Amino acid sequence: MESMESMESSACKPRAPTVPTEPRGDLAHIYAAGNDDAKTLLKQGWIKIPRMRTGIDPEPLITGFDEALEKGGFSGRFGDVDTIDGPTTLPWGVWGLDPVYLPYSRAAMDARLVMRRVKADMLNLPPEQLLSSFDAVMATHSGYSTKPCFDPAHPRVPCSHKKKDPAMPAGPGHIDQKGENWSTADSYQMFLALTPAGLSEMSTCLLIPKEPYGLQDIMDEARTKFPYCFRKELKNGGDEGLFIMPCVQEHLIENDMAIAIKPDMQPGDVLIWSSAMIHCGGAGKPVRGMKRHPRLGVIAGFFPKNMLTSVALEKRRSIVGNLRATGQQVHRPNPHMKWPIQARYTKLENWPEAYKRIKERKRQLEEDNKNFYDSEEGDSDSELVHKRKVRALLG
Ligand SMILES: [Fe+2]
Repeated sequence: MESMESMESSACKPRAPTVPTEPRGDLAHIYAAGNDDAKTLLKQGWIKIPRMRTGIDPEPLITGFDEALEKGGFSGRFGDVDTIDGPTTLPWGVWGLDPVYLPYSRAAMDARLVMRRVKADMLNLPPEQLLSSFDAVMATHSGYSTKPCFDPAHPRVPCSHKKKDPAMPAGPGHIDQKGENWSTADSYQMFLALTPAGLSEMSTCLLIPKEPYGLQDIMDEARTKFPYCFRKELKNGGDEGLFIMPCVQEHLIENDMAIAIKPDMQPGDVLIWSSAMIHCGGAGKPVRGMKRHPRLGVIAGFFPKNMLTSVALEKRRSIVGNLRATGQQVHRPNPHMKWPIQARYTKLENWPEAYKRIKERKRQLEEDNKNFYDSEEGDSDSELVHKRKVRALLG
């Protein structure tokens, strides 16, 4: 017979659904009409597709990013990881992401194009019908990791609250949509790994639903139970995101509705997840004497062009035209921060050459009221090809 205690605790547990709640959102009907991967993504909110199935060869992309690093005056090379020795060997980052330099490299456009093909196959759509976000590029040295660490014995997406105000979340665990948006099928982001990421390396951690629940079930439960953790005022500055309070994650795990994972990634693998899913970059503690691998990867969201409003299209053209990176949402475009925080406390004369050039280029574009992707007289053939790729992804 069940003890009184277990009866009480099971009475408090959310009832497992016999059928998961139908996922809601702008893209639900598109994913429902896609292949099995798309249907899994719709219900579970995430999927990993190994290189064997993506068909993505990471080598030319790594070489392309290394060429960009060389051109920008950075000494790190992902083809020779010993050269990535500390933060100054790569572009400045924010949460391990470069929002300024690599997002507009040729390699980044090529990566987005091959990623778009993976997504188009999944949705049975011609690739040209999907537009891409122009998000930051994940590029960071081996010494960088977020806190708290990912512990496989007690797996959690790294989430914390402010020391001085325990009612306020402090990241890095977050969702990439507004707290008041309950949909889980509005937007998806794809991460292409270009470096290996085992337990100790920085890579994406996700809070995924446990059978029989789907993502819509667990996020509905989270918002119903903790409305104050999803209130408008907690929105991250400027973008669609929101940091998640540790109590939300604990509740979903304790009630057997969710589990935190850190998928093992190899170059050429992609990980796709809903922007409504609790996630962030994290790393396990390195084993003593072991050095982490530096991280290189590209993140992008894709969205059907015919579902974008003309306002959203224009906003994207203007953000991208001035060389600003965007968040991963295509249909609700937002600019990433203009410069990483480091730029604020480094004198301009000490900025890396690449940043000084970008600053001047942005100023010139603004002054001339031009977009960087407009063809100009004197453009080389390769520059024209690059700009065509940008426009194809931008719409
Ligand atoms: Fe995110």
